[in-house]
Amino acid sequence: MSRPAALVTGASRGIGLAIAERLAAAGHDLTVCARGGDALSAAAARLAALGAAVRAEPADMAAEDDVRRLARAHEDAYGRLDVLVVAAGVGTAGPVDTAPLHRFDKQFAVNVRAPYTLVQALLPTLRATAAARPDHGVKIIMLSSLTGAFPEPGLAAYGASKAALISLCRSLNAELSADGVTATAICPGYVDTDMSAWVHDRIDPADMIRTADVAELAMSLTRLSSRAVVSELVVTRPGGQLHRA
Ligand SMILES: NC(=O)c1ccc[n+]([C@@H]2O[C@H](COP(=O)([O-])OP(=O)(O)OC[C@H]3O[C@@H](n4cnc5c(N)ncnc54)[C@H](OP(=O)(O)O)[C@@H]3O)[C@@H](O)[C@H]2O)c1
Repeated sequence: MSRPAALVTGASRGIGLAIAERLAAAGHDLTVCARGGDALSAAAARLAALGAAVRAEPADMAAEDDVRRLARAHEDAYGRLDVLVVAAGVGTAGPVDTAPLHRFDKQFAVNVRAPYTLVQALLPTLRATAAARPDHGVKIIMLSSLTGAFPEPGLAAYGASKAALISLCRSLNAELSADGVTATAICPGYVDTDMSAWVHDRIDPADMIRTADVAELAMSLTRLSSRAVVSELVVTRPGGQLHRA
């Protein structure tokens, strides 16, 4: 039996890299993707040092051809897929009345269309891997956001794209979980990464959720049996406004 294999998008930094490191340490071989080649190469070297076989595949999740090439590259390298982590995501803030539509389109392309396309392209491999491991199945983990579950002023387009991911995970479970393919949307409030730097003037990064917390949740999902379906995990910061990101 070959080692388990995982594909992680957005793995060059932040939450995606933290999850990829934990997967590598737990014995998974990896395909990792991001747009920036240098940062991705550096991440791949860190992951390989943890003992994993690592295939680094620069790809832009806004480009359908890149998404399909990524799926093929993973299948060619490993022939199985035990864990798919969708961490690549983009977010821009702006009120509904003035936020430009091209930003809406970009967020939906990267945050929703790419994950849907990736799952569609990888489904035969996901199903075959699940069938070979019926007790365990395979796991799809998508980084949604607290804003997908609870509204946040100024983040309507981002929140809508993340709500779509929650819905996608529920639908995937309705269609696929009986075959051992289960999906979870992790929905955190602000996590201390590059993406949340824009709110440092009002939220101290030390008070944000840690990438290690999100990675811990992701790893716990990978250890569940195929009998347990968790469609979403909502993670808030402490305090009186639990449903504000
Ligand atoms: N940080 C938060 O507060 C927070 C909270 C809730 C949910 N999330 C979600 O968690 C996920 C990870 O966020 P993060 O905080 O780790 O972000 P991050 O630190 O900005 O990292 C984003 C990763 O995605 C890659 N990426 C961005 N656009 C891409 C594209 N078009 N194609 C391929 N890769 C792309 C980036 O690499 P390149 O730039 O080189 O492509 C990087 O590896 C995102 O989906 C985000 O929406 C974040």
